[in-house]
Amino acid sequence: MTGLIRKKRDGIALSREEIKYMVEGFTAGDIPDYQMSAFCMAVIFNGMTDEETVALTEEIAHSGEMLDLSCFSSLSVDKHSTGGVGDKTSLIVGPIVASCGGVFAKMSGRGLGHTGGTVDKLEAIAGYRTSLEKDEFFSQAQRIGIALIGQTGNLTPADKKLYALRDVTDTVDSIPLIVSSIMSKKLAAGAKNIVLDVKCGSGAFMKDIESARTLAQKMVDIGRACGRNMSAVISDMDVPLGFAIGNSLEVKEAIALLKGADIPDLRRICLALSAELIAMIREVSVEEAYKIAETALDSGAALAKMKEWISAQGGDVSLIDDTDKFPKASVVYELRCEKDGYIAHMNAELIGRAACDLGAGRKTKADNIDHSAGIVLCKKTGDFVKQGEMIAIFHTSDKVKLEDAKNIFMQSLEFSEENRVDNALILDIIR
Ligand code: URA
Repeated sequence: MTGLIRKKRDGIALSREEIKYMVEGFTAGDIPDYQMSAFCMAVIFNGMTDEETVALTEEIAHSGEMLDLSCFSSLSVDKHSTGGVGDKTSLIVGPIVASCGGVFAKMSGRGLGHTGGTVDKLEAIAGYRTSLEKDEFFSQAQRIGIALIGQTGNLTPADKKLYALRDVTDTVDSIPLIVSSIMSKKLAAGAKNIVLDVKCGSGAFMKDIESARTLAQKMVDIGRACGRNMSAVISDMDVPLGFAIGNSLEVKEAIALLKGADIPDLRRICLALSAELIAMIREVSVEEAYKIAETALDSGAALAKMKEWISAQGGDVSLIDDTDKFPKASVVYELRCEKDGYIAHMNAELIGRAACDLGAGRKTKADNIDHSAGIVLCKKTGDFVKQGEMIAIFHTSDKVKLEDAKNIFMQSLEFSEENRVDNALILDIIR
């Protein structure tokens, strides 16, 4: 392995055989974490060629079982977000698309760095089983069109190990590592139709539109070459999505949207992602598919589907009927603004980190999540705030964590005297 690390350190491309050797050795435990993290750090600096990225993706995909969803004919759908702050879209897109005939048989990840993960959010629902036997997963998806579980050890075990290692060695934000991590899981998870939500901005791994486009295009190309219908929505992550950040707070917000709450950015992105998938399974235009998705959301069909889904996986459905029943954090702190002004910019990564500090995320692999912890924004970019007005509400179980979180949050804000904000949400769509 040292030879391969040296090659990558010196900017020389690895062959498919070398990549296969490395992925197999790491999965089997023959290549230790410290060597693999050195390799990942060399990739951060020197990148990978397209051939290396394809080889890495395929080797990670084949490191475990490859699911066969062909029993759902061409109706199987999957979505993936490259990770953002306040991103609860799977909880909404899943029920919308399932209520429109899609089969959302999906495996989701946990939080990574300052970004949240769907599995952590679902575990905020008492009783929800994030792991199902294969037979139950398939039969539930067949019966109600939706089943959502955590990644099993049988699928892409190489990514499971690598993802956890990258999280704690600051080697997440590299295009080839992200492409191979996401697309290996998507290929192994077997869906015919895949939409990617590529986040761009201060809260995303891709900070600028050019790298977001490169990432999106590479993932679309790899998926298509492997016989999948693909599209990628590039969306703004310069400001958190919706108002809630943190696991149960986000589940509550997703339920609120399904019940008709007015959360414009969250609604728009969920409908756009749903429309891409509905257009693929129904073979209609994306415009027509958008209207179908809107009807599913506004008629309550998607909410009914969410209840069916949560109940099928053992979750307490009464929490959906009355979201006040979710366990609450013992410390609730109202952060007030010290001066008048427009919010010119919010650094979403810092806000994600502040939420993480309150207990909503992990700092090491072994950390436990506090499901009730997080932040609810009262103001967002472009809003005017008066001195003394509430800007955010912090939720935590540990008062000591407030001070750091407040400081990080305040650092995330930039004020101006006039409103100069252009709040474009969908930056591009790659089909
Ligand atoms: N999401 C993933 O699944 N993998 C990454 O590397 C980054 C985001």
